[in-house]
Amino acid sequence: MSATGSDLVTTDIDRAVARLDAGGVVAIPTETVYGLAALADRPDAIRRMYAIKGRPTDHPSIVHVADVDHVHEWAVLPDGRATILATACWPGPLTLLLARGPRVADEVTGGRPTVGIRVPAHPMTNALLRRLDGAVAAPSANRFGQVSPTTAAHVVADLGDLLDPERDAILDGGPCPVGIESTIIDCTVAPPQVLRPGGIPTEDVERLLDGALAPAAGPVRAAGMLASHYAPRCRVHLATDRAAADATQQRIGAAGRAVGVLDRTDDLVAATRHLYADLRDADRRGLDDLVVVLPPPAGLGHALRDRLTKAAADRPG
Ligand code: TXA
Ligand code: MG
Repeated sequence: MSATGSDLVTTDIDRAVARLDAGGVVAIPTETVYGLAALADRPDAIRRMYAIKGRPTDHPSIVHVADVDHVHEWAVLPDGRATILATACWPGPLTLLLARGPRVADEVTGGRPTVGIRVPAHPMTNALLRRLDGAVAAPSANRFGQVSPTTAAHVVADLGDLLDPERDAILDGGPCPVGIESTIIDCTVAPPQVLRPGGIPTEDVERLLDGALAPAAGPVRAAGMLASHYAPRCRVHLATDRAAADATQQRIGAAGRAVGVLDRTDDLVAATRHLYADLRDADRRGLDDLVVVLPPPAGLGHALRDRLTKAAADRPG
């Protein structure tokens, strides 16, 4: 397998469809982050996708379908709140947790009675999904626990050596415009719960539902809810404002460590779009430490604070 990944990367949707149909694994562009896709009713392909990602097999993955009319084989979309959200937000960065349908492989849900499902908004992946007589299960296309990819080059860097150019592919759809994962809403409980803040602000979801959402409760159900996740190699420190960040930078720098500051609080759309590239860039620059200014907890600020808090959390080992 090549170090450049050039034999994996393609813009040819026909090739991507053929690889999936043959049971291969294909990295797909979405509006949020790149996903690592396998057919959602092919246990062998799903198991291999999990092995490439290094992800525990009991961890569920999101099923991606072409449009709302394709949901029924994979999940039960009840009238009412779930349908309101699906109609208003799809295609887009919202995942609904629903009761699972008959066609979804156990390997996708980790044996749960529920399935996370969404219609992504990326023209290439939508064309691919329309061409498949099925759906794909796709977690983010990074090694488990590490920083999510928002370009095909990120996927090559993370997984290029683990994918097989004869069986797999990386579909290059350019940089992901949203840049952070979908918002996940559990619609199997009342009131619905936010399992993960993401690309659609929870305030927008509450407005659509005319009512408040509950925070996630019960056992940890989403990988993003583990304490440490989305973590670059360098240590991430959080600051409440720029002055505090500069003071922390000075203190760490005085100890002889290479330290940078990341402050995009003036534009949260850009902060979200560039978050993962910024974290990767800190590693590329050889920083030991990165001090990040947290945005306020509103709109996209919820998702940014969630990812940054997890990137800064103590890691096992
Ligand atoms: O934007 C996104 O959601 C991206 C793109 C590729 O679609 N996907 C993504 O997948 O972020 P992943 O696997 O990295 O994160 C999905 C999260 C995990 O935390 C998983 O535990 C949770 O969704 N999840 C999926 N199905 C679930 C289920 N049935 N019950 C509880 N949590 C579930
Ligand atoms: Mg992920």
